[in-house]
Amino acid sequence: MEKIAVLDFGGQYAHLIANRVRRLGVFTEILSPASPAEDFADYAGIIFSGGPSSVYAPDRPDFNPEILGLDQPILGICYGHQLISQTLGGAVKPGKVKEYGIANVTVEDAAHPLLIGLPASSPMWMSHGDSVNALAPGFRAIASTPDCELAAVANDARKMYGIQFHPEVTHSRFGNRLLENFIAICGCERTWSTASYLRDLEGRLRQQVGDRNVFLLVSGGVDSTVAFVLLNRLLGEDRVLGLHIDNGLMRLNESQAVKDFLNAENMRNLNVADAGDLFLSNLAGVSSPEAKRKIIGDTFLDVKDLEIEKLKLDPDHWVLAQGTIYPDTIESGGTKHADVIKTHHNRVPAIVDMLVQGKVIEPLADLYKDEVRALGEELGIPHALVWRHPFPGPGLGVRLLCSDGVAPDTTVPGLEAFLTDHGIEGQTLPIRSVGVQGDARTYAHPFVLRGAPDWDKLEAFSTALTNRFADVNRVVYQAGPRNHVAYTLVAQYCEKDKLDTLRRLDDICTAFLQEKGLYEAIWQMPVVLPPLEVDGGPAVVLRPVCSNEAMTASFYPMAPALLTELCARLLAGGAGAVLYDITHKPPATIEWE
Ligand code: XMP
Repeated sequence: MEKIAVLDFGGQYAHLIANRVRRLGVFTEILSPASPAEDFADYAGIIFSGGPSSVYAPDRPDFNPEILGLDQPILGICYGHQLISQTLGGAVKPGKVKEYGIANVTVEDAAHPLLIGLPASSPMWMSHGDSVNALAPGFRAIASTPDCELAAVANDARKMYGIQFHPEVTHSRFGNRLLENFIAICGCERTWSTASYLRDLEGRLRQQVGDRNVFLLVSGGVDSTVAFVLLNRLLGEDRVLGLHIDNGLMRLNESQAVKDFLNAENMRNLNVADAGDLFLSNLAGVSSPEAKRKIIGDTFLDVKDLEIEKLKLDPDHWVLAQGTIYPDTIESGGTKHADVIKTHHNRVPAIVDMLVQGKVIEPLADLYKDEVRALGEELGIPHALVWRHPFPGPGLGVRLLCSDGVAPDTTVPGLEAFLTDHGIEGQTLPIRSVGVQGDARTYAHPFVLRGAPDWDKLEAFSTALTNRFADVNRVVYQAGPRNHVAYTLVAQYCEKDKLDTLRRLDDICTAFLQEKGLYEAIWQMPVVLPPLEVDGGPAVVLRPVCSNEAMTASFYPMAPALLTELCARLLAGGAGAVLYDITHKPPATIEWE
């Protein structure tokens, strides 16, 4: 198989590049920059990703310089470009301030194979502090920007290139063209697709499974549904068994839609364990987000063990399948420098042991989410089912925020003066939500802003508030009603009536997004029920985000007229106030807990 290796120097850059190159028709894999040179034998080219480090940082990612001695073409992007130049005898100028945003890249050598087809000048996205300021021997400049003379460099004899800008982000208008040119330099044919992958995968899976049967937990989400259908199509209904544990924390009709599809396709090999009551009784009276997550996780394991016990599956004849996808394997330290924000539940030590013994198969472990969805459609799963928004394992359990009703101290030193100075109208809410700063999680107060829905202005306030005050990690806009209202903190726990309220409000939002054609423009829109009431009705939070792989996200600025219409529906549906989350990730996470 023709494929390109992407070295992961941290952050989300490597995933973006790997995903983009696959969309251009060449399979990619993410490797550690410290990998031995022999690990690259099967790759037609190597891309060094960007990363958050400086080449001068003592704790920069380990790197094996022998990789630069290999024969394959190499493209360094941003940090990768700087590392190559520094290692091969060029110079890198340390920069204290980051240059961030769009820069116009001027092509100096229009006939160069890396730049063919690019206009003389085009906008490319930049995000860097350090920059290369002296060429390594054998290199020459092939493109520049007004602030960066060595924006693209080449050593043609060695087929080694470096670029300061990021071709993988959509803001770089001709970024794809540059990547296509690098693919051509590597001599790769652009023939990879999810359909071609499916043909290879079937052969590999048959070999891995042998004559054993396969057991799979089906959460009802996209990944496990695709894995279940794939295994059914490949091995037949008699050799596959699915178990769905209904935890009582699903959205309205969510499990039902999956069951209806499976029934319609005659896949009747899915057992359903109805454990909603047990989950809710274990969650009774618990308000700490971490404690809730742990209870949901532990209850899931208990029910799973009990149900598997009942099935009496002979371990010699059954393997476990999981719907793990590629970023789940990498995020958990599959390569050393990916930011580990949380260990994915599919990569806990017991599962890793079983993987090593060949007792677990992961049919989707090479694929990104968009590829899993394409594969799902290839397998005949309806478009609306595979394009559902991602939904967290603990379900509505992390969207129904709980409280004992005792208000925490919300005084933020210096905040009042800042609001007055900047003419900001709003207040800190007496609750807390989870955020992320670097690799660490934060737990702090949301701030609610009032005013007109002028997104640019609101975004600037949101960034200023979260940058300046560590006690504020999230900012919401009071979309309805617009006037000053009083928020009352109430005692709230994971109870059925509250979950039903959340399910109803969530369903109003989902129906609205679908009706207005917004559903697929938005990556995900958690609907959150905080323990707050306004005039006796629950406040509801909308968290629409745009994202690529959920590692970073930006809030989605809904057209004001549409937001007004959605608010009207929610207020008519019983909500006391509608809050619209206007925080990017970081500093706030996508989910509130
Ligand atoms: P955060 O909140 O960390 O979410 O920005 C990133 C993505 O992960 C989903 N998420 C989870 N998925 N189990 C899951 O399977 C979990 O415990 C969990 N927590 C968050 C979230 O919906 C978003 O897509």
